[in-house]
Amino acid sequence: MCGIVGYIGNKDVLPILMDGLKRLEYRGYDSAGVAILDEGKIKVIKQVGKIAALETELNGNSTSGKMGIAHTRWATHGEPNQVNAHPHTDESGNIILVHNGIIENYNALKKMLVSKGHTFHTDTDTETVAHLISEFFQNGTSFEEAFRAALNEIDGTYGIAMITKHEPEKIYCARKGSPLVIGVGEGENFVASDASAIIAHTRNVIYLEDGEIAIISREGFVTKTIDNKTVTKRIEKISFDLERIEKAGYPHFMLKEIHEQPDTVADAMRGRLIEEEGVAKLGGLTPILHNVLRARKIFITACGTSYHAGLVGEYMLEQYCRVPVEVEYASEFRYRDPIIEDDNLVVVITQSGETADTLAALREAKRKGTTVMGLVNVVGSSIARETHGGTYIHAGPEIGVASTKAFTSQVAALTLLTLMIARTKAMSAEEGRSIVKEMKTLPEKVAQALKTDETVKKIAEEFKEKRNFLYLGRGYNYPVALEGALKLKEISYIHAEGYPAAEMKHGPIALIDEDMPVVVIATRDSTYEKIVSNIEEVKARKGRVIAVVSEGDDKLDKLVDYTIPIPMTRDLLQPIISIIPLQLLAYHIAVLRGCDVDQPRNLAKSVTVE
Ligand code: AGP
Repeated sequence: MCGIVGYIGNKDVLPILMDGLKRLEYRGYDSAGVAILDEGKIKVIKQVGKIAALETELNGNSTSGKMGIAHTRWATHGEPNQVNAHPHTDESGNIILVHNGIIENYNALKKMLVSKGHTFHTDTDTETVAHLISEFFQNGTSFEEAFRAALNEIDGTYGIAMITKHEPEKIYCARKGSPLVIGVGEGENFVASDASAIIAHTRNVIYLEDGEIAIISREGFVTKTIDNKTVTKRIEKISFDLERIEKAGYPHFMLKEIHEQPDTVADAMRGRLIEEEGVAKLGGLTPILHNVLRARKIFITACGTSYHAGLVGEYMLEQYCRVPVEVEYASEFRYRDPIIEDDNLVVVITQSGETADTLAALREAKRKGTTVMGLVNVVGSSIARETHGGTYIHAGPEIGVASTKAFTSQVAALTLLTLMIARTKAMSAEEGRSIVKEMKTLPEKVAQALKTDETVKKIAEEFKEKRNFLYLGRGYNYPVALEGALKLKEISYIHAEGYPAAEMKHGPIALIDEDMPVVVIATRDSTYEKIVSNIEEVKARKGRVIAVVSEGDDKLDKLVDYTIPIPMTRDLLQPIISIIPLQLLAYHIAVLRGCDVDQPRNLAKSVTVE
């Protein structure tokens, strides 16, 4: 949701904070602020809008110092404006903090504090925390005790970084539900919501767990629980490098990440395919291998794009492993009390590894005593650390809020899982080998599909002013239709719906006229003839059809308005290729409409609150 960064050391803090904020801007970007403590004085500068607006505000403002905290916001409580921007302070201004998460009981706490004479200046839940700490501190506890006592009063989620005049050589940090990483340096230390904000300065990090605090100084750091038990933390190395989080000459992270997919799909499979035996091996599942292979039912739970990848997983796991699969939105799964048996398997899919609903669904499944495996992109993320075992999809940092390369790598990883399980059941070595052989052609075929970019751009020019779109697909291409519609919605703000093509007759067909663009994924698979009839139904109502077809298939040329030819592959792998022109279509329409592709309105890259 929001991005936090902090530094204490001997360098000028402002450039470090501003650089960190820019790398975290994909997490939230409706307002931002910094607080710098220098020679006992704390300076707070905050601005509504993007980091660039804060930078303008800071220009000509001789703010400097050797320690400070900063924040980029995605509003939950209190509209985005300068007052509600972080950092927030207590009455005296001596306690300053930034927060990522939601203080669920802030109203009750606020009422209690007002009754004790506190005055509030913002509409945020966060300001309550600063006042609460000062309330405990005024009651004579040490500053650290006041910090921990306040945290014990809070219901909800938080990643907090706080500085105070009372202890000018320390930054206090705390985590519960929202990610927080400590960066370990020489004579300097950092705190951040994720490692991308500090990788330019250190690759040594420690990940805070829920219920842990860290007190960092120039010399080092102390980690303990809120209840004052010291915790020894292992320093880990950040696995990716700075280049991977830069734009590499592309105008947007999203377009760069779309074009990275030949490599990222290859990375998802690297070292995991054994062609001669026609099998896949996923080392991260070793601790739970028996339960994965012998699961009598599989639940897949996730949100957004990851949920759509899960739907593709359902089709292939049921078709090739003959195991019943249920795919659930994590936000429903966590509350609907699903019937989970001991011999079931729950697969949680997530790019960020921090999505609150998916994390809660994981914990609910563990509470029910079943095995939980993860398909995760961000190494060391909360969900990766809390599953019983899992597989990293190795897509590298995904900065664009609209998920693209994570989807194709998730589907590739689900295919590896399917192959691994199916080869212990009815799938023959020969069938396994042919799937492995075909998987190895994917990077080349994805690269081929990317060559439709110019064709797609022309189509985007034609349809950029439309207000509604319909996406249709059958079988493995049905989740692709959902994902294509989601991409268009989230970055171009055009209303779009994905549907199983045959379902159209049961309602959506009423929407079709010459003003309704209909995107149909019509590759030559077992449902081809059926999807052609669906296209004829649309054309009979003057709908404008953009069809994603198999290379060399000119049968539809005369029937549809536009065709986008892509390479054919096996049915279970087709979504990895079919989605490419749909990602490009959404991208080009959004650019032509002047939308902020990398930071679409109202969205954030990782949704860490409910
Ligand atoms: C997709 O483009 C969106 N950013 C969003 O739907 C996302 O897929 C969803 O929030 C899940 O995120 P996760 O994969 O990081 O858990």
